[in-house]
Amino acid sequence: MSTPPASPDGGPAQSKARAIRGSILHFKDDPREGDSAAWEYYEDGLLIVEGGCVARLGDARALLRGAPRDLAVDDCSGKLIVPGFVDAHVHFVQTDIIAAYGRRLLEWLEQYTFPAERAFADERHAHEVAEFFLDELLRNGTTTALVLGSVHATSVDAIFRSAAARGLRLIAGKVMMDRNCPEYLRDTPASSYADSKALIARWHGRDRLGYAITPRFAPTSSPEQLEAAGTLAREHPGVCVQTHIAENEEEVAWVRTLFPASRSYLDVYDRYGLLRRPAVLAHGIWLDDQDHARLAASGAALAHCPTCNLAMGSGLFDVARASSAGVQVALGTDIGGGTSFSMLRVMQEAYKVAQLRGYALSPLRAFYLATLGGARALGLDDRIGSFLPGREADCVVLDPAATPLLARRTQLAASLVELLFVLMVLGDDRAVARTYVMGSPAQQR
Ligand code: GUN
Ligand code: ZN
Repeated sequence: MSTPPASPDGGPAQSKARAIRGSILHFKDDPREGDSAAWEYYEDGLLIVEGGCVARLGDARALLRGAPRDLAVDDCSGKLIVPGFVDAHVHFVQTDIIAAYGRRLLEWLEQYTFPAERAFADERHAHEVAEFFLDELLRNGTTTALVLGSVHATSVDAIFRSAAARGLRLIAGKVMMDRNCPEYLRDTPASSYADSKALIARWHGRDRLGYAITPRFAPTSSPEQLEAAGTLAREHPGVCVQTHIAENEEEVAWVRTLFPASRSYLDVYDRYGLLRRPAVLAHGIWLDDQDHARLAASGAALAHCPTCNLAMGSGLFDVARASSAGVQVALGTDIGGGTSFSMLRVMQEAYKVAQLRGYALSPLRAFYLATLGGARALGLDDRIGSFLPGREADCVVLDPAATPLLARRTQLAASLVELLFVLMVLGDDRAVARTYVMGSPAQQR
């Protein structure tokens, strides 16, 4: 691969056209019905980037014939280029509790999560973890994420500051929680409203950043706090909402006792005006038909986080059921309940969960969910998630020969679909050759 041309200030050049050559795949729509118009694939493709955005995509030889002689081309021939992965649900403040043994959701929160999140009252700690976390995202080919901070506004300042310095498109929010958690992590309806509002004013729409109103989940918010979250949502219609829903059966039973007047867990959020597009609810394993219909009508999306669901024994999300009900679905790592930063690993586990639900998740659909599907869930599909002209040129270069086993197995792949499947089953961070942000190699420490 060629070295990127440097601008006079030493940073990567943004204004001059540059191009990336390799096998290129992206999605224009959900390939659910096997609809071949839903994706575009060039075995020898060229992605031309101008000002950080996609100018043209097509067959390399045809495009190079009409290209300026001095077009800088990064040659990634033999590799697969797809839009940067979108992680639709991840807690940066749980980076250090990944791989915590032996607990299901509610005990896991008490034993591991709350103590770890307490440390984010310290700005220096928040900054150090934010930097490590973003390095890890980029090493794994993830260029956009919907991120939960801790209850402390400073945690969100830290992740936004680090993301802005790297030019990343990222959405994050301060967790709101005023009950059923340790005293040392509690905010109040008034303070959570004021802190979230100040964070929206400070960060939403600045650079490539967006805010997410983030009530942690129904059990840790009083009705007054959910009311405050709903007020924020009403006052800021373009701002994303994120939370958790129906992850585990004990949690669902608990919500029933906490909110006896609500028909269902989803209905709790609905009553407070928290369902809309964009809103991303993580998990959604234990929902009924009425909930699915309401989600579809509201435009709120579900983030399927299979590595977390399997590790915590929470249950098996039914992606086919959600999709056929018209619910928008995305994929999330859910670090630190989840067990890997790699969206390839998440796709692999989503495939296995679907098998246990009785069907095979197609590799095309898995790659769609990790790219355009995620962008749609976050309300960002007009900016990222595909290589349509004008989209921001965030992409990941996957190496089908990254390991001896990948090389051996991908050589035998007889089709694109087979290649994608082998990459998602055998691939992880080792398969990521390079990550581009706005058409330039990602800045890592
Ligand atoms: N539900 C409420 N908080 C959390 C969390 O931090 N992780 C997961 N997986 N589920 C939650
Ligand atoms: Zn989560």
